[in-house]
Amino acid sequence: MAKAVELTPGVYWVGAIDWNERNFHGYTTERGTTYNAYLVVDEKIALIDTCKAPFSEQMMERIASIIDPSTIDYLIANHGEPDHSGSLPAVLARAPKAQVVCSSPQGASILKALYGDELPLYPVKSGDTLSLGARTLCFTTTPMVHWPDNMVTWCPEERILFSNDAFGQHLATSKRFDDEVDLAEVIDQAKKYYANIVMCYSAQVRKALSGLRGLDIAMIAPAHGVIWRSNAALALELYTEWSSLEPRNNAVVVFDSMWHTTEAMAETIAEALAECDVAVDYYDLKHNHISDVMTSILQARYVAVGSPTLNMTMMPTVAEFLCYLKGLAPKGRTGIAFGSYGWAPAGPNDVATSLESAGFNLPLEPFRRQWTEDAAGLEAIHDAVVALVRDELPEPSDGE
Ligand code: FEO
Repeated sequence: MAKAVELTPGVYWVGAIDWNERNFHGYTTERGTTYNAYLVVDEKIALIDTCKAPFSEQMMERIASIIDPSTIDYLIANHGEPDHSGSLPAVLARAPKAQVVCSSPQGASILKALYGDELPLYPVKSGDTLSLGARTLCFTTTPMVHWPDNMVTWCPEERILFSNDAFGQHLATSKRFDDEVDLAEVIDQAKKYYANIVMCYSAQVRKALSGLRGLDIAMIAPAHGVIWRSNAALALELYTEWSSLEPRNNAVVVFDSMWHTTEAMAETIAEALAECDVAVDYYDLKHNHISDVMTSILQARYVAVGSPTLNMTMMPTVAEFLCYLKGLAPKGRTGIAFGSYGWAPAGPNDVATSLESAGFNLPLEPFRRQWTEDAAGLEAIHDAVVALVRDELPEPSDGE
């Protein structure tokens, strides 16, 4: 029998653990995930978010460990994506008097499209509040964090922010709180989540964060992963840092190779960057997933992308990566295109075109090498990269 977990007296986690999820929209979730729902028991009873549909029974069991589900008055649907709304029909089937609180107009429109026009909707706007008795729920819309309908729910009496997708991590664990698990792993998974889901909406995140600044937050209860109980301030700091999209002195070298010429170029570029004190993450796409590459790109100043020429274009692995990169839209970065060819340099040229269309600045012509690489050719690449970095980066301070 699945049980609820208490956050504070009267407030419970009643979500589901998905130990087996390994791919979330093409993003690898090597540690699974959770779909967090929360129950607030007061004179009125509110369920905040639900679970992905296959997990509805697990969630209903947890709810039933605290209350009779038929007594739920409000179902707060912070976001219509089916990992959070999928169990809405199952809840309404057992809670006939429940009203579905959602953002207006986007939340109402999405929920009607997904679950029909007959839903008992209670649309709210930013600043609206709902009294449950001793506790209040305050709603703030956060459009595009992660869909147009998103909102967060703040309970001032408990100082808990129910943040839905924001501050989430894809991390399945039997523990519910950040101080019960390895914090470094929570941060790593939160960063991967930000880079792969939220990065392209960073402007909207910055706006949402400015709306949260006045709140005295004790806990951030997201819709995925563990609850930020001891490290809520850190979670806010991390989102402030990541949403700034400010690059660090880091680089990513990412490539595929057929006969090792592009690989030799990748190694040379990585060595040249490291020689300039730039921290390098190095990814051969034969052995690494694009979602892990994106985590490194979140704070990388330089992104070097290489492909040999195959069928008069770049390799499909590199094309897939560049398509994904363009969608996630990191801004203000320097790109370096490189690759080998036999009779026409289409691979590196297409990489350069894709990087430019993704918004990268490419101060160097693509490095193109025919057939094989020789020492002089590699040295020329090395010297060009070193010159680029030394030109762009400030001289290290001597401490005086
Ligand atoms: Fe976790 Fe946008 O859904």
